Amino acid sequence: MNENLNRGVFMTNNYKIAIIGGTGKVGRHIAAAALRKGYQVRMLVRNPRKLDGQDDRIEILQGNVENRDHIRQLLQDCDVVVNAFGQPPGDVPLYSSVTSIVLKVMNELEISRYIGVTGGSLTLEGDRKRFTNKVGALLFRIFFPAMIKDKQKEAAIIQQYCNIEWTLIRLPFVVEGAESGAIKVNLTDMPGLKISNQDIASFIVRQAAEAKYIHKAPFIAT
Ligand SMILES: NC(=O)c1ccc[n+]([C@@H]2O[C@H](COP(=O)([O-])OP(=O)(O)OC[C@H]3O[C@@H](n4cnc5c(N)ncnc54)[C@H](OP(=O)(O)O)[C@@H]3O)[C@@H](O)[C@H]2O)c1
Repeated sequence: MNENLNRGVFMTNNYKIAIIGGTGKVGRHIAAAALRKGYQVRMLVRNPRKLDGQDDRIEILQGNVENRDHIRQLLQDCDVVVNAFGQPPGDVPLYSSVTSIVLKVMNELEISRYIGVTGGSLTLEGDRKRFTNKVGALLFRIFFPAMIKDKQKEAAIIQQYCNIEWTLIRLPFVVEGAESGAIKVNLTDMPGLKISNQDIASFIVRQAAEAKYIHKAPFIAT
């Protein structure tokens, strides 16, 4: 698979995608988008009842992201990991610890492709955010200091994993809605104010087969 990604050759459709956060606002359309592309899907969920009515081709694993054994079971035999884990902003943030476990288990299982999501307020070296987006990021740092600090830590951890083909997607405000097909991507600043979760799902699933944003943290919006 490494070779395929590095050469930009599209993956065959029998790859399996592991999804964390697939019942959340951001993640809830990823499994369906992956199935439409012919991928196999395994999802970690705390409460399988939330999935009533979902496609029965989705392999469901009941568990918790804080449990390393559950992550191991989720990732076993998978080729791509999608991490759309999320928490209410006021909770003690677990982003960096969850992602750290996921990346360690990926290394153990020799899985190379990781696609994660985070907020557009995350600022990384090389960004050239316009004034309004700088103010937005500042407000997030003021109102949710623990969460933003932990998301910065998560990004730093991801960037250390040079052997993993990671992509960290930075999102604006996420709305429930249909796919527009008009996603703007920018590597240094947020190109819009919002995006629908179906646009996110299709962008994420495309990344499973593309090498363009490996080792990058693109902002996406519509
Ligand atoms: N929503 C936005 O507007 C927005 C904007 C920018 C960035 N983001 C980022 O996108 C990511 C996802 O956010 P979201 O809004 O989709 O969050 P969300 O709606 O709260 O969904 C969180 C997901 O994580 C799962 N989860 C939480 N704790 C878990 C645990 N202990 N074990 C297993 N699964 C667990 C939830 O599963 P359950 O079904 O079990 O609860 C759910 O699938 C976050 O990084 C967030 O910062 C979101």
